[in-house]
Amino acid sequence: MLIIARKTQDEKKKEDGFMEVLMDKRTCPIGIFDSGVGGISVLRQLIALMPNEDYLFFGDSKNAPYGTKSFEEVQRLACADAEYLLSKKVKALVVACNTATSAAIQILRNKYSGMPVIGIEPALKPAVLSASGKKPAVLVMATPMTLREEKFHQLMMRYEQDATIIPLPCPGLMEFVERGELSGAALEAYLGKLFQAHLRNPVDCVVLGCTHYPFVRDTIQKMLGDKVAIFDGGGGTARETHRRLAECGLLSPFRARGRVTIENSSESPEITDLCSMLLKI
Ligand code: DGL
Repeated sequence: MLIIARKTQDEKKKEDGFMEVLMDKRTCPIGIFDSGVGGISVLRQLIALMPNEDYLFFGDSKNAPYGTKSFEEVQRLACADAEYLLSKKVKALVVACNTATSAAIQILRNKYSGMPVIGIEPALKPAVLSASGKKPAVLVMATPMTLREEKFHQLMMRYEQDATIIPLPCPGLMEFVERGELSGAALEAYLGKLFQAHLRNPVDCVVLGCTHYPFVRDTIQKMLGDKVAIFDGGGGTARETHRRLAECGLLSPFRARGRVTIENSSESPEITDLCSMLLKI
């Protein structure tokens, strides 16, 4: 039996109103935040995948680093960063910081349950899957907080049958990126100390579990050798953001290149140049 139901005038008005709101939302920017400039490594992946979206990136360099602060302090800072972006009417929230994700992703998801909230975690899965045949040794570089928290322990438990996972806390490494020091003798000396044991017992893969570290990837590769495969979570986070936006009908309807706005809490006069340089790498 075929039933043709005609929409009442009221139902139609309601639908039109809903479409308008949806239309407006689709044209809003995607909000991204990090403890500093590191999250620009995720922003680059988002732009590469969805160049037609508008982006508003907020880096909290004034309060960086987050990774050596207390859990409660990082929760408080992450909530303030998110609130700021929400005040700018973003349509989705990307937490481009592994540390803030471990401390605050659940709070943010509960608080903003009506919008996509995407976090980032160390890319252990692709690293483990990349090994053909043998059980790989995977070095996970991240902040002390990321490696200490429950979220990482659960992730590690998921893959510990298939890989030897070696967590390596790197306090002080994000500061090199915040200073724009992406290569050179001081960075090599710092990494040399960090890698001492692993230069003797080489690992198969390295996971960059902090969004600042992709900016010093070349130096890490140089020190550990070409045979070591390096992974980071930026691409996966960008793909997950695309998936969530599509699922919620929030992808931008525009075809032209979107606008990228970068804001930072630091009062340093060099911060703007540093952000543009990192965005172009
Ligand atoms: N970029 C942050 C992350 O991904 C950490 C840097 C910090 O310690 O603030 O974990």
